[in-house]
Amino acid sequence: MTTTEINETRLEELMGQLVGHMTGAALCFGIWLGDELGLYRELDAGGPARAADLATRTGCHERLVREWLDGQTAGGLVHRDPADDTYSLTPEAAAALADDESPAFVARAMNAVAAVFIDMPKVADAFRGDGGLSWGDHHPCLFSGTEWFFRTGYRAELPNWIDGLDGVADILARGGRVADVGCGHGASVIVLAQTYPAASITGFDFHGPSVETARERAAEAGVSDRTTFEVADATSYPGTFDLICFFDCLHDMGDPVGIARYAREHLNEDGTVMLVEPFALDGRDQNIADNPLSAMLYTVSSAVCTPNSLSQDVGLGLGAQAGEARLTEVLAEAGLHRVRRVAQTPLNLILEAKP
Ligand SMILES: C[S@@+](CC[C@H](N)C(=O)[O-])C[C@H]1O[C@@H](n2cnc3c(N)ncnc32)[C@H](O)[C@@H]1O
Repeated sequence: MTTTEINETRLEELMGQLVGHMTGAALCFGIWLGDELGLYRELDAGGPARAADLATRTGCHERLVREWLDGQTAGGLVHRDPADDTYSLTPEAAAALADDESPAFVARAMNAVAAVFIDMPKVADAFRGDGGLSWGDHHPCLFSGTEWFFRTGYRAELPNWIDGLDGVADILARGGRVADVGCGHGASVIVLAQTYPAASITGFDFHGPSVETARERAAEAGVSDRTTFEVADATSYPGTFDLICFFDCLHDMGDPVGIARYAREHLNEDGTVMLVEPFALDGRDQNIADNPLSAMLYTVSSAVCTPNSLSQDVGLGLGAQAGEARLTEVLAEAGLHRVRRVAQTPLNLILEAKP
């Protein structure tokens, strides 16, 4: 292409778009840093502060804190009062950035964004090689970033999703056995255990360090009495269950059909599989055009989910944007023929599947 073919207006629009993406990436870093250093928490707890006060209270370097605060202010995340040069968080910003118990908290999910940058050379090797990069070979901030990316939604919505499943809430209220396959750091296990104290819930994951962290999280949450965690591949866990769940992980696995079939074979009579997957519209054209999260999710899928799938047996490479129709096909191939959408959020699709 020669320069004469360039449309200046379109070029200007594209440059604006790219500057926006670069600003977003820089702010993701700034949010990650602010959460790590406790800057948001201290700003929220102590109220409006000058940079020097915030630096003293967090044990950080004053000049760097002021520079960070000005970036946060320019990015619309922190409020600055020019009259006395103090900075503060609105209640909304505090919910999203400071309070990790809030249903809007998103700051710590930036660990996952950080991981894809840190792991770029490994991802590039996967692109140039056989496509495979195993979950456990990523930087550990991927594991906590994933936990915090999904945890907020599980805490807000998971009890409603269970209510939407046919008869499952009653079984779990009386007791019942649940398997959470690919449980990661156990965020969903903990919500289930808190909501259904009589149920017994086992989290399985093939990644040992995640299982260790999940045990710690369960102990911190006071639910160790009704939860267990085991290192196991999704085709090798023992036992039978009333409910087998996959939270945002089936697409990461090499053989989703074989894994869903294994789950079917490990259901108690009238048991249910609950499949929670990243939200996607059916059909790539429509999903690319109309799903606001698709740019982020396809990109992360190309760096994390699909390479993990390609690193395992079968290596289907389903991808994080499969959509309901394709997921239903996968489940039907596994002998789970009765599939029903139970709920959807901007981030997740929730399917009930039964033999
Ligand atoms: C995107 S993370 C989701 C973790 C967790 N369910 C959550 O929602 O926070 C995918 C998880 O699947 C696990 N995983 C991937 N392949 C697996 C396999 N074949 N067997 C068991 N776990 C697997 C990974 O170790 C990782 O913890």
